[in-house]
Amino acid sequence: MSELVMETTDYIKTNEKRFLDELFELLRIPSVSADSKYAGDVKRAAEFISKKLKDAGADKVEISPTKGHPIVYGEKIIDKNLPTVIVYGHYDVQPADPVNLWTSPPFEPVIKDGKIYARGSCDDKGQVYMHIKAFEMMNATGTLTCNVKFMIEGEEEVGSANLGEWVRANKSRLTGDIILISDTSMVANDTPSIEAGLRGLSYMEVEAVGPNRDLHSGVYGGAVANPIQVLCEMITSMKDKNGHITIPGFYDDVVELTKEERTELNRTPFNEEEYKKDLGVDELFGEIGFTTLERTGIRPTLELNGIWGGYMGEGSKTVLPSKANAKISMRLVPNQKSEKISNLFAEHFKKIAPKTVKVKVMAHHGGEPVVTPTDSHAFSAASKAIEKTYGKKPIPTRGGGSIPIVALFEEELGLKSVLMGFGLDSDNIHSPDEHYGVFNFMKGIETIPLFFRYFAEGK
Ligand code: BES
Ligand code: MN
Ligand code: MN
Repeated sequence: MSELVMETTDYIKTNEKRFLDELFELLRIPSVSADSKYAGDVKRAAEFISKKLKDAGADKVEISPTKGHPIVYGEKIIDKNLPTVIVYGHYDVQPADPVNLWTSPPFEPVIKDGKIYARGSCDDKGQVYMHIKAFEMMNATGTLTCNVKFMIEGEEEVGSANLGEWVRANKSRLTGDIILISDTSMVANDTPSIEAGLRGLSYMEVEAVGPNRDLHSGVYGGAVANPIQVLCEMITSMKDKNGHITIPGFYDDVVELTKEERTELNRTPFNEEEYKKDLGVDELFGEIGFTTLERTGIRPTLELNGIWGGYMGEGSKTVLPSKANAKISMRLVPNQKSEKISNLFAEHFKKIAPKTVKVKVMAHHGGEPVVTPTDSHAFSAASKAIEKTYGKKPIPTRGGGSIPIVALFEEELGLKSVLMGFGLDSDNIHSPDEHYGVFNFMKGIETIPLFFRYFAEGK
């Protein structure tokens, strides 16, 4: 074992309990960015991150206000001639709903079977905190090999609407060599991997309005089109029986992978039976002609995220509702453009609306897809670091999720990202009982300093 691995292993062992206690403190703050009633908690989480960055050895730390939630910025410049790593992450979390489906309260972290259960444990507080503790450790052991700039935001889960503006305004201090992000997952703890691509996103909200008021479903039913039914039919028609999306032009810009690339992608270990069992479904469904790994990695999708209308309270109410609504997201792949896809959707949706309803379409946040290079020095550094701590060379994969800011970093700062995530797809992020392995948390803290070392070595 090399000296650095020895030292960090000792440091982690001695401080493991404190690391977890501190993370628990952060997890107890319900920093839900989507819900304004938690705005004070979001602010408290920013203050917590800022304090911990200072304690860990950052020279300049500030809580930078935005029109929405603040961005925590901190840096430590040790030598202008050394490479600079910009660490990005987010301290905001998804709403905990449905809260009654949690086994333990979402903001009262507990360890069960070696896993930390809490909203944000994996996405992304646990992974952000690994970076802060790895940074502390590098400072404490005198092994920091790069300059570091931290950019931890509070609006990732709501589309990072204000980060772009902040990045543009702070361009001069965001000079660096690489963006390092731990906000993705690995295939399994015994199959380490690095995501080399993220999908983009177009998020739409639609409304279909029929009669000018809610009607008695007996008095009027049968004579007036029901907007819920109409909306359902419109939505259903947007995908054919082969799982192809029918919006004209939707696939025009999709980059098809070569046969070799597809073969490579499908080498990722994947057990369909276990996958189905874990999800509690008897059969999978997706675009015909593609494997599950391809369906989530390299193909665009259209999914209903929510649909509502009419009476949804207890018991029954006979009503023919005036309107129906839905939220629909589309995951995008290179080279689709979020704005173009949102426009295609809106045009198509309006076109297929029957005369029985009036429709409204609104675009929520979006984000562009990215592919991160696997032949770069930074990717090799991450790969070597993981190989050292996991004992196996990580395989490159394509992630289905989105981190919209990654494409923007490339555009605005000209910087590539490395997605060195330590979560697992089965960690229930965004779902009840989100958890994060204590093993993964500690492995992250052990691996990050090695990334810094290998990254500095080749520079
Ligand atoms: N960390 C996730 C993205 C992710 C998870 C990528 C797992 C790859 C693997 C991130 O916090 C997230 O949830 N992003 C949102 C997008 C955002 C605009 C709401 C998403 O993917 O839905
Ligand atoms: Mn995240
Ligand atoms: Mn998330």
